[in-house]
Amino acid sequence: MSSFLASKTHFLTRPNDNAVTSKLYIRSFGCQMNDYDSGKMADVLRESHGLEPTNSPEEADVILFNTCSVREKAQEKVFSDLGRARDLKKLKPGLIIGAGGCVASQEGEAIVKRAPYVDLVFGPQTLHRLPALIEARKLSGKSQVDISFPEIEKFDHLPPARVEGPSAFVSIMEGCSKFCSFCVVPYTRGQEVSRKAEDVLTEVAELASQGVREVTLLGQNVNAFLDPEHGLDFTDLLEMVSEIPGIARIRYTTSHPKEFTQKLIDAYGRLPKLVNHIHLPVQSGNDRVLAAMKRGYTALEYKSIVRRLKAIRPDICLSTDFIVGFPGESELEFEDSMKLIEAVGFDHSFSFIYSPRPGTPAADLQDETPAGLKLARLQRLQAAIDTNAQAISQAMVGKTFDVLIEGRSKKNPAELMGRTENNRVVNFPAPGQAASRLIGQVLPMTITAALSHSLRGAMVLTPEDEARPANAA
Ligand code: SAM
Ligand code: SF4
Ligand code: F3S
Repeated sequence: MSSFLASKTHFLTRPNDNAVTSKLYIRSFGCQMNDYDSGKMADVLRESHGLEPTNSPEEADVILFNTCSVREKAQEKVFSDLGRARDLKKLKPGLIIGAGGCVASQEGEAIVKRAPYVDLVFGPQTLHRLPALIEARKLSGKSQVDISFPEIEKFDHLPPARVEGPSAFVSIMEGCSKFCSFCVVPYTRGQEVSRKAEDVLTEVAELASQGVREVTLLGQNVNAFLDPEHGLDFTDLLEMVSEIPGIARIRYTTSHPKEFTQKLIDAYGRLPKLVNHIHLPVQSGNDRVLAAMKRGYTALEYKSIVRRLKAIRPDICLSTDFIVGFPGESELEFEDSMKLIEAVGFDHSFSFIYSPRPGTPAADLQDETPAGLKLARLQRLQAAIDTNAQAISQAMVGKTFDVLIEGRSKKNPAELMGRTENNRVVNFPAPGQAASRLIGQVLPMTITAALSHSLRGAMVLTPEDEARPANAA
């Protein structure tokens, strides 16, 4: 799974029929929702303007920044990146510069006021209008700003999903209506709106017919999914996705503890395609802090979800998000987060120091904890989770797990890489020319070693394989 706040460049691969190929460079910040949207921007502009990908901003004709405002550092990056693009525009006056994503959604016109060389400002819900915005910019000579929230219309205006390997993301809902006191997302992405279940299922079936074996259902709070027309909730959707032929694994991110119903927990007993791994952000292990964050659950309620899940799936791995140093968090309150880590045995966490976001209620709270103390807490918390993760990896050594083979190993192309259900990368020696045939298959693999960021494995031969003559492919 891509790391939170990592920045990525998106590549397109459609053959181009223009004599002179125009190029698109996209830099994406933030969460998987942004990453998904960046892929869609690339799809839309390939279809409308034949834009081909480039990983070099210098050769681009259109440069887009898909921005994130979840923490101050992420937001600060936007203007320094835009400044660098301005230098390129001086050399290439026709260059189109666009800012999309969450900072764009929050700042709107203010971006053009501060950086008049920016041609396009668009939000997460208006990215499908990029072709029209580019044309309007060319015709009018004026910067175009569209950060409205048209009710989920974007999905009706996007080209069909493209397949890049056996694993794919499918957005099932947009926005967030939870309004946690620290978070900008409800302001930048709008209220929760679900896609129609039939549209989601059609997209998954289309992906499966192109060889996708694993889908990750995406949304800020996937378990708030609701298709009222057909009376379907998130668990119903999971049941239906699980019936789609070809789909071997279902992941989702992110789910919210408040809506983690018994019905959803029970689905883990019925649906073997649901992977043994859940990302369930907790933010804090202390009830006063959780209430001040307006999270809507207590540490005990969170632990109860985990206990009930483990009763059904004893090996389930949980990853989470923590915020350290929320305003007023005392040393004792922080210790409750450490206790929760021990009680749950989290496998991974995206943990960050609290960053006050303008316009959110928590930004007005008194915050007297020194920065150095917050950093020390973050390091302690992260070290505890890393220790858990290593212990889980070590315990996998010598055992056999199903691995979805995704492609060639990054470091050694003579090897293949795949992923376990609990999201660990497994590199393994591939058997000669037949190796490519294995991509897209889910195969049992014995884990031979646990390294700090990956595992090594060896293919387990089935009795059928062993009976086959040695020269058979
Ligand atoms: N919807 C998901 C949930 O509630 O669990 C999380 C989405 S949010 C974009 C991702 C993570 O960013 C949050 O879980 C939280 O840990 C972190 N985050 C959000 N606002 C933050 C802030 N003001 N300071 C530090 N971290 C923040
Ligand atoms: Fe932000 Fe809370 Fe919504 Fe998650 S649930 S996106 S943390 S407001
Ligand atoms: Fe950032 Fe927006 Fe995602 S603020 S984390 S890009 S929802």
